[in-house]
Amino acid sequence: MSASELARHHWWQYGVIYQIYPRSFQDTTGDGIGDLEGIRRRLDHVEWLGVEAAWISPFFPSPMVDFGYDVADYTDVDPRFGTLADFDRLLADAHGRGIKIILDLVPNHTSDQHPWFTESRSSRSSARRDWYLWRDPAADGGPPNNWRSEFGGSAWELDKATGQYYYHAFAKEQPDLNWRNVEVREAMYDVMRFWLDRGVDGFRVDVMWHMVKDERFPDNPPNPDYDPSTMSPYHEVIPTYSADQPEVHEVVAEMREVIDEYDERVMIGEIYLPVERLVTYYGEGRGAQLPFNFHLITTPWDAREIEVVIESYEGALPAEAWPNWVIGNHDQPRVVTRIGEGQARVAAVLLLTLRGTPTIYYGEELGMHDVDISPDRAVDVREINIPGLGLGRDPQRTPMQWDATERAGFTDGTPWLPLPADASAVNVAQERDDPGSMLSLYRSLLELRGDPTLAVGSYAPMPARGSLLAYLREHAGRRIGVVLNLTSDAAVWSVPEDIEAGAVLLTASDGPFSGSLSGEVEIPGDEAVIFEVTSAGQERTS
Ligand code: GLC
Repeated sequence: MSASELARHHWWQYGVIYQIYPRSFQDTTGDGIGDLEGIRRRLDHVEWLGVEAAWISPFFPSPMVDFGYDVADYTDVDPRFGTLADFDRLLADAHGRGIKIILDLVPNHTSDQHPWFTESRSSRSSARRDWYLWRDPAADGGPPNNWRSEFGGSAWELDKATGQYYYHAFAKEQPDLNWRNVEVREAMYDVMRFWLDRGVDGFRVDVMWHMVKDERFPDNPPNPDYDPSTMSPYHEVIPTYSADQPEVHEVVAEMREVIDEYDERVMIGEIYLPVERLVTYYGEGRGAQLPFNFHLITTPWDAREIEVVIESYEGALPAEAWPNWVIGNHDQPRVVTRIGEGQARVAAVLLLTLRGTPTIYYGEELGMHDVDISPDRAVDVREINIPGLGLGRDPQRTPMQWDATERAGFTDGTPWLPLPADASAVNVAQERDDPGSMLSLYRSLLELRGDPTLAVGSYAPMPARGSLLAYLREHAGRRIGVVLNLTSDAAVWSVPEDIEAGAVLLTASDGPFSGSLSGEVEIPGDEAVIFEVTSAGQERTS
C-alpha cells in the first residue's frame, strides 16, 4: 500500500491480525509446551505470511486451570513460557520486522492464587474484600442467586472460612473482580501501562461484556430453549443480569483512555453478542476500536444467512466505527472441521476480502483441523467439568505443524496435546512449496489484500442467489468484485448488468477461472473468484 494510503488509516485498520496460542506455537525447552523464545524463532513465518500484528494469548504466571486465562500475576511471565527478558527480546525482534504485538488482558477475573484474591478471601474485613464479588448465602444456605458458570454448575463458590460466596463467571479458580471498585480499576490500568510502557501495541481484552454485573444480583430468567442433551448448562438461564450491563461502557471508556495515553495502540474486545449489542462497544469513539465480530463463526454457513449478517453488521456500524471479522480462535472448533476443507478455502477468501480487519487463528493458514482427543487425554477445564457434549477446546489447540518430522517441528519432547496423523502433509514446510496449498492461498490473499481497495475500500453487496454471495469493494476509483460459492455444488451467477469484469486476480481453488464473468456464469462448487471490475457503470459503493 502506498505511503499516502497508509497515512490516512491506522495499522489496525489495514493490517491483518494473527492469533498465537503460546502453548502450541513452538517449544524450545523440550517440555512439550510452547514458549516465548519459540514464538521469536518462528517470526520468519509470521513475517512471510504478511500479517501486521500478532496477538499472543496469555503467558503470565498462572496455575493453568484455564491455560493462562487464570492470571496470578499480571506483570510477569510464567516460567513455562520464559522470562520478561524473553518477552522483551520477542517484542524487539517483532518490531524490528515491522510486526506489532498485541497482548491478552484478562481483567474480568484473576486466578484464585492471585495475591489480591488471597487477601480478599482472608477475612470479611480485609482491605481487598470488596475487590471481588462476595455475597451472603441465600436463606436456605445455598448460592445467592441462580447465575451459572460458563464452565458448569453454579457461578458461586462458598468460602467456608468466611461464610460467604464469591462469584466466578468461569471456573471456581477464576474469581471475578469487582469492577465497580475504583481501586480495582486503577490497579488494572496500571497493568495496562506496565505493558504499554514496555512497547506493546495493544490488548485483546478477555470477555469484555462480562466485566460488570447488575449490582442487585437478581436471578437470571430461565432459558425456554435450553436442551441439556446438547447445550452447556450455562445456557439454562439467560445472562440478562450477569453480562452486558450498561455500566460496562464506562469501564471500557476508561480503558480506552489509558490506550490513548500512547500513540497508535489498539484495544480489541472479546464480545459474543448479537450485532446490535456488539456495536455499542465502539462507545461512540470512546470504546474498543475493534469489538471482535464472531458472526462468521456463529452464523450457519449458508450464503443467505451470511449475507444477512454482513448487511446487518455493515448497517449497524456507527459512523467512523471500523469493522472486523474473525473465522476461528482457541475457543471454537477449527473452520476446516466446521465446514470442510473446500469451504475453508472459500472462507479464507471471504475473511480476507470483506471490509474490516481480519483475524487469523494460527494453523488456519495451513488448513489444520480439530484433532480427536481421547477422554483420558482431555485437559481443557470445560471438557473436564462438562464432559461428553463436545464443548472441550483441546481439539483446536494442538501444536502448530511446522514440518513432516515426527513431532511436526514443534518440540523435541512430548507435545502437550497430540498431533494428527496428517501433520506429515499439512505443515508449513510442505505447503510453502505447493502452489495449490491452503498456505499458498492465504499468502496470496494477504498479498492481494495489500491493495487499498481490499484493505480499506468501501463495501457494497452485489445481487446473488442460492449458494452464492457477491460483493464489490471500491477505493479511489478502483473496484474489485468477489463472488463466492458457499457449497460444493456448482451454481449459476447472473452477473449484474452494470458490472464489467476485467482480469481474475485470484480464485479459492487457485486454478484458472475458465468461465467468462458476464451474463450467466457457472461458479464451481468450493470456488470463489476475485476479479477486477472495469466498467464505468454507475457507482454502487459509497
Ligand atoms: C475467554 C477466553 C477463553 C477463556 C475465558 C475465561 O472467552 O477466550 O479461552 O476460557 O475467556 O477467561
